Amino acid sequence: MNWLLDIIESSIGKKLLMALTGLGFCVFLFGHLAGNLTIYGGKDAFNSYAEHLHSLGPILTVAEIGLLVFAMVHILSGIFLFWGNLKARPQRYVINKSAGGRTIGSRTMPYTGFLVLLFVIFHLMNFHFVDKTNTTIFQIVQNAFSDPIYVGIYVAAMLVVGIHVSHGFWSAFQTLGANHPKYMPLIKGLSICFSLIVGMGFGFLPIYFLFMS
Ligand code: HEM
Repeated sequence: MNWLLDIIESSIGKKLLMALTGLGFCVFLFGHLAGNLTIYGGKDAFNSYAEHLHSLGPILTVAEIGLLVFAMVHILSGIFLFWGNLKARPQRYVINKSAGGRTIGSRTMPYTGFLVLLFVIFHLMNFHFVDKTNTTIFQIVQNAFSDPIYVGIYVAAMLVVGIHVSHGFWSAFQTLGANHPKYMPLIKGLSICFSLIVGMGFGFLPIYFLFMS
């Protein structure tokens, strides 16, 4: 078990945990977006997708527990790394200055991460921990997005998710060692594409409900 403690205690170990759990979330986001796109097929298509998902029973429960564990590991590693950086502020300044290439995404990671956490709690209260008797998941989503305030919150949140992912995606690859100068432009390009797909793909759904459904 010592090796596990070593990983958790070292800074690179925490970065590795963040990278792996972060990439896990990217896979989840991709799957979640693909599922949500059935909304465009109408209420029967979306309800049937949700029913299929729930019919997975114990497999879904295991996946949900996995997501929760990933979230806790990601958040705790992030807090400890942020805290460690704050304590080492003078060195960090020197390192940052020489590293260069800082983007809005990289500078704001802890803050966008915190906002994404607030969004996920709000989101689960809207759609997951709700009374689903005598209604359908389509109806629940439609009700929420008939309110322009909810639509505004969701669209703003998707902007934040997009910014967080735009840095997190390529940074995770870099941490995992894929930082060869030859592949970095490709990974950065993929990262921008992925964040645009996630931000716009999710962000357009509430707007669609407000104006078109
Ligand atoms: C417009 C955008 C989105 C819509 C319409 C949407 C829709 C939904 C719905 C309907 C559910 C409940 C499924 C059910 O219990 O049957 C759900 C669950 C969930 N969503 Fe979203 N979602 C959106 C964006 C996001 C984003 C951006 C994230 C992450 C940053 C996210 C994370 C989750 C999580 C973690 C769950 C719980 C999964 C589970 O326990 O099965 N969602 N979403």
